[in-house]
Amino acid sequence: MTLAGKRVLLIVAGGIAAYKALALIRLLRGAGCGVTCVLTRAGAQFVTPLSLQALSESKVYTDIFSLTDESEMGHIQLSRAADLLVVVPATADLLAKMAAGLADDLASTVLLATDKKVLVAPAMNVRMWQHPATAANMATLAARGVAVVGPDEGAMACNEFGPGRLAEPPAILAAIARLLAPAPQPLAGRHALVTSGPTHEPIDPVRYLANRSSGKQGHAIAAALAALGARVTLVSGPVAIADPPGVRVVRVETAAAMLAACQAALPADVAVCAAAVADWRMANPAAGKIKKIPGAAPPVLALVPNPDILATLCAPGPARPRLVIGFAAETAELRANAEAKRARKGCDWIVANDVSPETGIMGGDDNAVHLITAEGTEDWPRLPKSEVATRLAARIAAALA
Ligand code: C5P
Repeated sequence: MTLAGKRVLLIVAGGIAAYKALALIRLLRGAGCGVTCVLTRAGAQFVTPLSLQALSESKVYTDIFSLTDESEMGHIQLSRAADLLVVVPATADLLAKMAAGLADDLASTVLLATDKKVLVAPAMNVRMWQHPATAANMATLAARGVAVVGPDEGAMACNEFGPGRLAEPPAILAAIARLLAPAPQPLAGRHALVTSGPTHEPIDPVRYLANRSSGKQGHAIAAALAALGARVTLVSGPVAIADPPGVRVVRVETAAAMLAACQAALPADVAVCAAAVADWRMANPAAGKIKKIPGAAPPVLALVPNPDILATLCAPGPARPRLVIGFAAETAELRANAEAKRARKGCDWIVANDVSPETGIMGGDDNAVHLITAEGTEDWPRLPKSEVATRLAARIAAALA
């Protein structure tokens, strides 16, 4: 049973269906799953902390400002200790708070602070459920990867009929089991090399040349490959985002250092070059800060080309990864340029994206890409960068299978 030994943080919000949370706790405990409850102030109008505590056999948390609770088990720790957060019932109010990122009580604060998967089981009056505000909130949450179970259709406590009834506890249990089932690991035993972020090429000790790159897409790809079981080496230029979990990160500054780190990481089954490598570096970086002398002409920067990491990794030989994937960030003639780039660099696939400023892709959370392979070009819809990464990782797993 996938639930044995797992731990769910169950957030009980204020709706008439809150009583069904009690039945869910019994099912979870019966399956060997640990349950810790957070009860909202409105939830406590429908079920008592005592019943939640008795059934979960764990302390129930209600107050963000409780000194004892915060010292024993702070709100961050509540999320850390859980494998999954489950909201039963998810009221219109709490869903709106989640969508807006509000954090004005313990439940909403934990939901904002968590990096764990979240499952919501909505329950509310049919008109509240069908209101465009709730629909928009649900769409926002779905786009952020929040999982949903229900609501069911049927007779409701408010004497109306329609969608809005809380899913039955066995259905919520099944959704929890699906989310906690061990993910398939098709890339187990494979080594993936990923480059990400910009490179910084020093002009002098305080100035550098660089491309714009947040590293979001490359880091997401590293995380997605690790999630499929790959051993991942992420060679990253200077970025302001967190290391992806379960990935070995090698931090570099320059293109030369990035190439050396990539070569040191070989052999690899797949290499994904998502870094925005500076094309040139200073022929002779100044040892001291170049002085700004009033009236003097600005310095002329003599540049030399950087090594092409992607092309180097693609060079035929025993060390060439079986699958090498490059990126093409273009602002015009996207497909033609990307197809030409695939041939020129000798890589197997190119992920092409339009980075014209009006797309908002550069530094943003979404990406609209085209996957160019020997078989042709696929146009993917605009997706969160994490979803682009998940899809690409699945394609890589299929190609290496
Ligand atoms: O030629 P262009 O820089 O547009 O190619 C982009 C692709 O090549 C990306 O995959 C990028 O990571 C890779 N690249 C590289 N080393 C360079 C320049 C680009 O690996 N010096």
